[in-house]
Amino acid sequence: MRSPTGVARLIGSTVEIFPVPEWLSSTLSGTQFGSLRRQYIRSTGGKTAGATKETTGATEPVLEYSIRMNPRAFTTPGLSLAPTGAALGAEIRGLDVCELTGAEFAAVHRAWLDCSVLLFRGQHLSDADLIAFSRRFGGLDWAPIQETGRRFVEGHPEIYVVSNVIENGVPIGSLGSGEAVWHTDMSYLERPPKASILYALEVPPSGGDTWFCSMYGAYESLAPALRDRISHLTLKHDATYNSGGYVRQGVTAVDDPVTSPGVYHPLAPVHPESGRRVLYLGRRRNAYIAGLPLAESETLLDELWSCATRDDLTWRHQWQPGDLVLWDNRSTMHRRDPFDPDSRRILHRTQIQGETVPAA
Ligand code: SIN
Repeated sequence: MRSPTGVARLIGSTVEIFPVPEWLSSTLSGTQFGSLRRQYIRSTGGKTAGATKETTGATEPVLEYSIRMNPRAFTTPGLSLAPTGAALGAEIRGLDVCELTGAEFAAVHRAWLDCSVLLFRGQHLSDADLIAFSRRFGGLDWAPIQETGRRFVEGHPEIYVVSNVIENGVPIGSLGSGEAVWHTDMSYLERPPKASILYALEVPPSGGDTWFCSMYGAYESLAPALRDRISHLTLKHDATYNSGGYVRQGVTAVDDPVTSPGVYHPLAPVHPESGRRVLYLGRRRNAYIAGLPLAESETLLDELWSCATRDDLTWRHQWQPGDLVLWDNRSTMHRRDPFDPDSRRILHRTQIQGETVPAA
């Protein structure tokens, strides 16, 4: 099936256009793609499917419309956006995040939704500055309790310390120096944070890189039959272990995915701001798909995970002190490489509250 400007494929109730037609990519941002999708849902729910048919070349009413995005580099006075060239991520240059005007913040917000991960280098932030910048995106969740039982930076309950440093025999932060496995932050909550911001104070000379993967790309890479199969399934997001493999405070270690504590979310929710569907996996350990025999759940999860963390869906960040990385927690997962335990790594993180629960 051909539309005037791109190839349109009808998959079940979803029409995909690829490549994105010039008239769309030059006039709409990623956020607006979301409203476009909603507009089409409305129009096809009524009697106006003709407009959609004309645009997409679809031969049936279109219930859902998804497009792959290709963020473009742009420069405006004092600010430039350089996409990483990978499936996600961009660097914003020329901004001090403590001094953003309303227009600059609007550009950052749009770029964050379009690119899922943003890097700002050379920042000089106190904890109060980090909190102030984070609050521009919404209310903040308190940091999870660290493995040691310590909750947060004194006076700043919003700040989660990621560190291997030990002072007076006590770790100052979480996650040690080993690998932190692929995960989405705090998805064991009913309403997980919509974003996280990680700011580097000290980093080791090598190792400790953080990798991000696109869960839009993961969903879009699934075969249509697999998408249909997971469309009504929900997944338990385990609350027992953190990504460093440590048992969370106050939780008894359980290694049975069926009985371990956690919260169920749809496997393929719609991102509330972009309107695009994602694969929502959270973390692998103790994950369990509701209603399936455990062996079947494990097999299906292995298949989904092998699609999600493919090299072509990932971007790797090598840290420098002063780097600030902001990610969309609904459309990405991340993991961290191990590093030399004798070197120091200290990062401070905030979590921006989700406004909605993940919904299919
Ligand atoms: C995290 O999972 O938020 C920390 C990632 C890192 O240590 O780079």
